[in-house]
Amino acid sequence: AASAAVAQSELQQQSRRWYSVSHLSVQERIDRKRNAALIGGGQKRIDAQHKRGKLTARERVELLLDKDSFVECDMFVEHRCSDFGMEEDHNKDFTVFGGSLSGAHAQKICKIMDQAMMVGAPVIGLNDSGGARIQEGVESLAGYADIFLRNVMASGVVPQISLIMGPCAGGAVYSPALTDFTFMVKDTSYLFITGPDVVKSVTNEDVTQEELGGAKTHTAVSGVAHRAFENDIDALLNLRNFFNFLPLSNQDPAPVTECHDPSDRLVPGLDTIVPFETTKAYDMLDIIQGITDEREFFEIMPNYAKNIVVGFARMNGRTVGIVGNQPKVASGCLDINSSVKGARFVRFCDAFNIPILTFVDVPGFLPGTSQEYGGIIRHGAKLLFAFAEATVPKITIITRKAYGGAYDVMSSKHLRGDVNYAWPSAEVAVMGAKGAVQIIFRGKSNQAEQEAEYVEKFANPFPAAVRGFVDDIIVPSTTRKRICRDLEVLASKKQTNPWKKHANIPL
Ligand code: HXC
Repeated sequence: AASAAVAQSELQQQSRRWYSVSHLSVQERIDRKRNAALIGGGQKRIDAQHKRGKLTARERVELLLDKDSFVECDMFVEHRCSDFGMEEDHNKDFTVFGGSLSGAHAQKICKIMDQAMMVGAPVIGLNDSGGARIQEGVESLAGYADIFLRNVMASGVVPQISLIMGPCAGGAVYSPALTDFTFMVKDTSYLFITGPDVVKSVTNEDVTQEELGGAKTHTAVSGVAHRAFENDIDALLNLRNFFNFLPLSNQDPAPVTECHDPSDRLVPGLDTIVPFETTKAYDMLDIIQGITDEREFFEIMPNYAKNIVVGFARMNGRTVGIVGNQPKVASGCLDINSSVKGARFVRFCDAFNIPILTFVDVPGFLPGTSQEYGGIIRHGAKLLFAFAEATVPKITIITRKAYGGAYDVMSSKHLRGDVNYAWPSAEVAVMGAKGAVQIIFRGKSNQAEQEAEYVEKFANPFPAAVRGFVDDIIVPSTTRKRICRDLEVLASKKQTNPWKKHANIPL
């Protein structure tokens, strides 16, 4: 009886609303509704959004997409909640209830995601939301779960990119976390499970939004976000640029664009880039930018686990994913964070048909209690797993050190590397000469002599080359030319893994 009474009162309310506009023509009513939707939370809230240096959802979409290409759907959808004095809202941006998620809001998102999956189109989320709409209770939680499920189903099917453009809390952080890439806007965007007020009441910590979940925190400390940009406009333009590297879905090849940079261009600087002393650092980015089309390289996670470099570039117009040890940071060793960073990137490339170029200069895994206690064995295994299962074209260049387990891991021949090159400066060994001699000649007096012999035997590319573990020892300046030719040949590569429900990567 109680629910019948509620339904009756809802009907009355609705009919009163309709009665008040019934003197209007249908067209006038359509126009009114559309205009109401376009004004979102009202001019005052739009002004407040602008004052914070942020744009509204529609302004953002306008900047992101090709001119006049956005076709909005579901403009007439309204939320169904009348509790807590809530009025109608139409928009889904921060000017309406802080962009918090209603059931109707979730339904709109799910509809678009379902269509994207059906036609094979990437999904881009521009997030500026306070999470589950508190007034709607379980309906908004259900809405989030519906979105999460679709994020998971779409993973590996269509690329999913999240741009965080305001304070995002609760459910508004978990959807981005399930997507392939999360980018942020500096100073105006935040990601946290709960905001500073709740943190204060639960843990008594005083922390600002910026400290808790700002761009710096997530791009340099937590590794939750992949990159940050200066403002809304910079972020949207960078997203446009980034999008061009990606295929539309896992059924499409990675894009090939017109290339004005000769594929046989020599890069003389590479012949002298590796210092003679094996302990001296150099910048792997100089090698990467030396060989890519127009020196362009879109780096992913540039401020996190800097001992490994990952990102996208083009070689003779073809998109490639690049992974490189960075000798400039911690000698380029592999640790927990760099392994996880590399593994996730390799898996993205493999899921979306993007060939992987791997530049190797790695002294091994980082030793020590903090790494062992943190589970370097489990996390390092992720990178090994990712390279091993990848079936896209894989080209590896050992520029200098390829020591120990890290040699195996970094897309070695043994993990189905298609083309593996060594530069003349390459050294493939179980470990560096000093450490090796200390172990195998412990207590012996002629250690310097033994070290020289070890260097003679292992500190060169021949032991790997005579066994066919590298296909060729190449002149560094010819690297671009060789890779472009190999990618051409490997474009028709077909390789599959044994059937399985899914693999069990060590998480
Ligand atoms: C309803 C909300 C809301 C929410 C914000 N608003 N969050 N309304 N539900 N979750 C409303 C505010 O009441 C306010 O309305 C307007 O949006 C703008 O919010 P402000 O607080 O004025 O903005 P700002 O100072 O920028 O702070 C933004 C914020 C903060 C950090 C997001 O609003 C906040 O902490 N919100 C709550 C976050 C949260 O805990 N969400 C629930 C998560 S639980 P008026 O009318 O005054 O303009 C969740 C579960 C999902 O999501 C499951 C996950 C697995």
